[in-house]
Amino acid sequence: MVQDIYDPQFVKGVFDRCSDRYIAFSTWCSLGFTERWRRQCVEALPPPASMGMGYDLMAGTGEVWPHLLKHYPAIGTIVAVDISSGMHQRAMTRLHAHRAHRIEFIEDDVLASNLPDDSADFVVSTFGLKTFETSQHRRLAALIARCLKPGGSFSLIEASDPKGWWLRPLYLFHLKVVLPLVERFLLQGAQDFAMIGTYSSNFGNASAFADMLRNEGLEVEYRKFFFGCATGVCGRKPGADRQGAP
Ligand SMILES: C[S@@+](CC[C@H](N)C(=O)[O-])C[C@H]1O[C@@H](n2cnc3c(N)ncnc32)[C@H](O)[C@@H]1O
Repeated sequence: MVQDIYDPQFVKGVFDRCSDRYIAFSTWCSLGFTERWRRQCVEALPPPASMGMGYDLMAGTGEVWPHLLKHYPAIGTIVAVDISSGMHQRAMTRLHAHRAHRIEFIEDDVLASNLPDDSADFVVSTFGLKTFETSQHRRLAALIARCLKPGGSFSLIEASDPKGWWLRPLYLFHLKVVLPLVERFLLQGAQDFAMIGTYSSNFGNASAFADMLRNEGLEVEYRKFFFGCATGVCGRKPGADRQGAP
């Protein structure tokens, strides 16, 4: 039987099994770029009109929260949505216990979740796009458009294939040689990390997702980071009177 690697339960299994080593994997394998890209994702978030509550979709171990709370200290609550309880437990027990009063957690498949309409001042997501295929991206775009308040803003980023660029051979070398070596020797053969490489190489970039968000009526800017090795989308849901907003 062919396994559907985009089945949410399959993805959950991958991340539940990797959760204890995910942070090390993410940092080593990206040569530290993931931290920089998380910060840049937050910097790209258009300033929300109010900072009451926002969603961190596919939040994982909450690596973006320090950047969010540093950039926007007035944030009331970050609602983290992730299908993997392992990733969230890891986040709360080891890393973010001191922020617990500002973090709420919804353990669910984000596409099956019932996030309320017009509920969020902002939506962010770092490296959460790659585990979805096209129809799931479309549903995610609709979800973001639905759950943002009018005037609310969003920013999402994902590691991407710098197609047509001299960096591509290096990128492929990294995916096909460096990642398996790190997996084999530093992460003791955790097969699941290879899946993260597969999702990354299948993803491409965020330009099609930008169009899906536009089709949902959002104002969208598509951005490239480090020559397209990461791409992102940021913008707003129109509709609020933004007079006086920064
Ligand atoms: C590569 S990790 C990114 C984690 C974190 N945002 C970061 O910056 O490192 C992707 C996360 O997406 C979550 N995820 C994948 N599919 C999901 C879904 N359908 N619903 C909710 N979370 C999902 C996984 O459990 C995992 O924690």
